[in-house]
Amino acid sequence: LSRINIAIDGPAGAGKSTVARLAAKALHYIYVDTGAMYRAVTLKALEAGIASDDEWNVGLFAQKLDIVLLPGEDGQRVLVNGEDVTSRLRSLEINRNVSYVARSEGVRSRMAELQRLMAQDKGVVMDGRDIGTHVLPGAELKVFLTASPRERAQRRFLELDPASGISLDQLEREIEERDRLDREREIAPLVQAADANLLDSTGMSIEQVAEQIVRWAVAAA
Ligand code: C5P
Repeated sequence: LSRINIAIDGPAGAGKSTVARLAAKALHYIYVDTGAMYRAVTLKALEAGIASDDEWNVGLFAQKLDIVLLPGEDGQRVLVNGEDVTSRLRSLEINRNVSYVARSEGVRSRMAELQRLMAQDKGVVMDGRDIGTHVLPGAELKVFLTASPRERAQRRFLELDPASGISLDQLEREIEERDRLDREREIAPLVQAADANLLDSTGMSIEQVAEQIVRWAVAAA
C-alpha cells in the first residue's frame, strides 16, 4: 500500500478530530488538527491585545508565529513559538473569536503554508474546513463529515469546562453562528469538495465512522 493524504472537513463538532485521530492511529499516519492551529493564533492574538476581527493586524501577527504540532500522551500538543498552549485552546472565549481570526487572508495563507509542509511526505490525516478544497486539493481521500446540529452541540458541550455555565441550547446557537461565519467567508469557506465522500455521522459511533474512513483509505492507497 502506498501512503496517501486524507482530508477530513466539516462543520464544528461533527467529530472530525476524534475520528481523524483514530483513523490516523489505525493507519500509522500523522494526525494534524488544523482547527487547533487557528485556535492557537486566536489565543496569542487576544493575549497581544489584537482584536479578533482586525484582519490586517491579525494576519501580520500570524506571520511571526511558528506553530508545531506534536503527538502527546493524551492527544496532540500545540506549541506556539515553543510555548505549549494545548490546555487553553478549547475555551468559550476562543470558540467565540476563532472564526473572525480565520477570515484573515494573512492568517489563512500562513496556516496553509505550515499545513502543506506537514503533509509533504504523505501519510497525514488532516482535519479542518478547507483541507480538501484549498490546502490539499490533491489529497487521495477526502471526507466531508457532518452530523445534526443538536448532536454536534452535545459533543462540544462535553468538551467544555462545566463552570462555563453555558446551556446546551446556547451552545447550539453559537455553533450554528460559527458555521455560518465559516461558510460565508470570502477566502477558503467551509464547503464540501466536489470529489469528497459525504459521511453523516448522526447516530453512528465514533468507531463506526473511523472504520468507514479506514476502509476508504485502504481502497484509495
Ligand atoms: O475544528 P475547530 O472547531 O477546532 O476549528 C475552529 C475554527 O477554526 C473553525 O470554526 C474555523 O473558523 C477555523 N478553521 C478554519 N479552517 C480550518 C480549520 C479551522 O477556518 N482548516
